[in-house]
Amino acid sequence: MAKLACSSPVPLIIYPSVFLILVFLLFASFNHQFDISHTVPSPPSSASSPVSGHRQSKDQLTSSSSSPPPPPPPPPPRMLSRTSSTTSPAVKVEKSSLERIEEGLARARKAIREAAQSKSYGRNKYNFSSSRRREMEFVPKGPVYRNPYALYQSHKEMEKRFRVWTYKEGDWPLFHKGPMNDIYSIEGQFIDELESSKSPFRASSPDEATAFFFPVSIVNIVQFVYRPYTNYSRDRLQNIVKDYIDLVSSKHPYWNHTNGADHFLISCHDWAPDVSSAYPELYKHFIRVLCNANETEGFKPSRDVSLPEIFIPYGKLGPPHPNVSPENRSILAFFAGGDHGDVRKVLFRHWKEDNDIQVYSYLPKNLSYTKLMGQSRFCLCPSGWEVASPRIVESISAGCVPVIISEGYVLPFSDVIDWSTFSVHVLIKRIPDLKGILEGISEAEYREKQRRVVEVQRHFTVNRPARPYDMMHMVMHSIWLRRLNLRLQ
Ligand SMILES: *[C@@H]1O[C@H](CO)[C@@H](O)[C@H](O)[C@H]1NC(C)=O
Ligand SMILES: *[C@@H]1O[C@H](CO)[C@@H](O)[C@H](O)[C@H]1NC(C)=O
Ligand SMILES: *[C@@H]1O[C@H](CO)[C@@H](O)[C@H](O)[C@H]1NC(C)=O
Ligand SMILES: *[C@@H]1O[C@H](CO)[C@@H](O)[C@H](O)[C@H]1NC(C)=O
Ligand SMILES: *[C@@H]1O[C@H](CO)[C@@H](O)[C@H](O)[C@H]1NC(C)=O
Ligand SMILES: *[C@@H]1O[C@H](CO)[C@@H](O)[C@H](O)[C@H]1NC(C)=O
Repeated sequence: MAKLACSSPVPLIIYPSVFLILVFLLFASFNHQFDISHTVPSPPSSASSPVSGHRQSKDQLTSSSSSPPPPPPPPPPRMLSRTSSTTSPAVKVEKSSLERIEEGLARARKAIREAAQSKSYGRNKYNFSSSRRREMEFVPKGPVYRNPYALYQSHKEMEKRFRVWTYKEGDWPLFHKGPMNDIYSIEGQFIDELESSKSPFRASSPDEATAFFFPVSIVNIVQFVYRPYTNYSRDRLQNIVKDYIDLVSSKHPYWNHTNGADHFLISCHDWAPDVSSAYPELYKHFIRVLCNANETEGFKPSRDVSLPEIFIPYGKLGPPHPNVSPENRSILAFFAGGDHGDVRKVLFRHWKEDNDIQVYSYLPKNLSYTKLMGQSRFCLCPSGWEVASPRIVESISAGCVPVIISEGYVLPFSDVIDWSTFSVHVLIKRIPDLKGILEGISEAEYREKQRRVVEVQRHFTVNRPARPYDMMHMVMHSIWLRRLNLRLQ
């Protein structure tokens, strides 16, 4: 078990308390309300005090878009320690450090909003030192993207400004280490990537961070704390993460600044959503990055992030990419997987004996899963014990159009990419009509979807170190948008 002893509480003086209360009020009223297509609500009257850095950023968001951005404020003097108590210089420094970050974020919001509205890639695109860089840079284009200009600008702003501080507290194996292979692997890969010195998102100090990461592995907690399973009660899991929040929020000022609104954890375990259910107030603003993104179970798309589930075999970073053209895909639809959950039972009941829709609970040894995906036009992705399934990434990798049969599932990156352009959604109650639905898709429409599946492959590919627009960057981008409180529609 990790040691989570609390350090002694830090005394507060009047001035920072007022500041914290104001920040809290502002966050409580503004949090997750921005939408670039809407005007910004006017601040509550308590915000007329001169104190808050957050307020300035809101003002900048509303200011006229033609005025040039203000010059960057001078860098703050190197800080002693924000936790070291009570002298007024420390308070000054704290303000300007926060202000500087919020001003940068306000500029990012403005640039993204401008790109979204003007429908142009902005000047960045043509500002390359060499033609080689231009060739290498990916530029989102076409109907797959809800607003490719906004995504392009936002990704650029993220690379420039998004810096994540990973808390150092907590011991291996519950913290700082997660599974690197198998179906929950994205959890360990992310912890490893964000703690790696190669990550461009790594903040060199918490004072320059735009977000804070809890390097906790829910998979490892379940693995090490719950084995042997005596009961499935989630209280031990909940208490470990709660103790971690208590520890870092008493030791450092960052959690209290925003009530956790710029803090996140990443987990692919089915139980991860339960972490917050015992203390809903504590997690009210916290960003949960989850594979199990079940909206009916409390997943909040405006605040939480849907994380792709991916099966990572040993020695690889993901499934293979067999490159099979549409004319060589002779199977109408394919699925192989365990009889988990209600949706699959219905699927097996209706389609197990069919030749066009090939559904296996266990694939015979002489058949290859990857090869069959490569030979199929559509790959069925029904929910199992939970809404997410590694099949979505597998089918995209295989160039097979995914058929999503899952209710309440918030699909990864759906705030920036339009899943309807490269996948098919079938309601659970329409499973009996599956063949008619798939056969009813014209050849032209199928080819278009299939081509776009190939187009989005880069967003579902894991690289280490991560690369622009790959899966990890897209997940970071989802977190970035929630940190900015901005929706790209
Ligand atoms: C082009 O990029 C350089 C270096 O990245 C930067 O200094 C310059 O301001 C940029 N120019 C424009 C017009 O954005
Ligand atoms: C589950 O097991 C743990 C550890 O054995 C115990 O502390 C806890 O009270 C149990 N919870 C329930 C609901 O039985
Ligand atoms: C943050 O707030 C909690 C609860 O109000 C308090 O116990 C803790 O000491 C605060 N942390 C800091 C660093 O001031
Ligand atoms: C389809 O597969 C055959 C046999 O493997 C191959 O010769 C042919 O080139 C493929 N067609 C396309 C369009 O890829
Ligand atoms: C695989 O084995 C099964 C019997 O277990 C047989 O019916 C089927 O034809 C075989 N398929 C291939 C592709 O060899
Ligand atoms: C999603 O959540 C609802 C509500 O808890 C639950 O009934 C449903 O089974 C969940 N879906 C899956 C696939 O687990």
